Amino acid sequence: MVQEFDKVGVVGLGAMGAGIAEVFARAGFMVTGVEIDAEALERGRGHVRKSLSKAVQKGKLTEEEQDSILGRIAFETAREELRDADFVVEAVPERMDLKRDVFTDLDRICPPGTILATNTSSLSVTEIAALTGRPGKVVGLHFFNPAPVMKLAEVISTVSTSPGTIEVVSEVAKRIGKTPVAVTDRAGFVANALLVPYINDAIRVYERRIASREEIDTAITKAAGLPMGPLTLADLVGLDVCLAVMDVLWEEFREPRYVAAPLLRRMVAAGLLGRKSGGGFYGYSGADTPAEDLPGGRLAQIVRNREEEFDLADMLLAPHLDDAMRMISEATPAPTTSTPPCGSAADTRRGRPSCSKNGEPSGSPRSCSRSSTPG
Ligand SMILES: NC(=O)c1ccc[n+]([C@@H]2O[C@H](COP(=O)([O-])OP(=O)(O)OC[C@H]3O[C@@H](n4cnc5c(N)ncnc54)[C@H](O)[C@@H]3O)[C@@H](O)[C@H]2O)c1
Repeated sequence: MVQEFDKVGVVGLGAMGAGIAEVFARAGFMVTGVEIDAEALERGRGHVRKSLSKAVQKGKLTEEEQDSILGRIAFETAREELRDADFVVEAVPERMDLKRDVFTDLDRICPPGTILATNTSSLSVTEIAALTGRPGKVVGLHFFNPAPVMKLAEVISTVSTSPGTIEVVSEVAKRIGKTPVAVTDRAGFVANALLVPYINDAIRVYERRIASREEIDTAITKAAGLPMGPLTLADLVGLDVCLAVMDVLWEEFREPRYVAAPLLRRMVAAGLLGRKSGGGFYGYSGADTPAEDLPGGRLAQIVRNREEEFDLADMLLAPHLDDAMRMISEATPAPTTSTPPCGSAADTRRGRPSCSKNGEPSGSPRSCSRSSTPG
């Protein structure tokens, strides 16, 4: 069946959808990308063009390859154009009302054999599948940002997904150069259940003037060796997406550590969504972002040396490493306790107590005392 796959639809050509369309077209699929209106469609086309021309500039793609990839993508505003798609990936904003509208429509438009996938970061795939008359053929296919670069793709099954669908989608993911990981439908799936609470903790540290945005990001890149810090990552992922994931985790588990940082909520309300809006924790359109003036901006200068960078990195990462270890040892994606105890494996990894209870960072990288009030 995988061999028969030819026509792929992508609904929503924003930060994720444009990259997803590019990835399929690069792998030889005929792609139809659908946007909400002509203006958004031009933006989506621009995202794809920009990404491909960057690859040409870097010598990773020839001009001819770029042209043939673009030639495989049809840009449309009418969903009806997906009437003969074999496989459709939805990447509209993270709102259930929008997903509902798209999925009920796709179910009407597409043939019964078409597999429908959502790229949701946090919403219930089960609920989305139940909106259609083909729940066995609905999955989550969760790409990571930027989609053309990141290798992981979570293939999310619900209680209704047929095993054949999972198999086909995993094969398709391999054909487009991704590494599929099969996970079940739970809040945050696996990657975001670990990653977004870590970002949220970093926002709390920033909000409480424990460290500046630069200090937080530097601690993680220099001391922990990760490619980017959590606030840079938040801007890349989109603060609205981070907030949606936190809210869904809170809704499902009701654990204090899953309460979204108030600053995260305020920034989303203010339209500071990160790269896609031109500003988040950092500015991307020339001027700096108002975030610089928020508590914990460049004013905080408490991380003075490398040792303190290590402390900060430890404080931010330890609770989430504990979560990952629990996921492995329990062979289930669901963390069962909310409190990584002081003295746990991750806490003592570097021979000193870490500063987390209820997954909360402490009031200072040097101290274990902390407010127990979440967010
Ligand atoms: N940004 C990330 O890092 C990331 C990573 C993984 C998954 N996701 C998920 O991917 C989805 C999209 O996120 P994004 O960051 O690309 O959002 P985005 O806001 O950048 O893009 C969404 C696009 O959908 C379009 N759109 C809105 N309504 C539409 C409709 N009815 N029909 C067609 N197009 C429509 C918008 O015009 C916009 O271009 C969300 O579910 C998000 O949770 C995001």
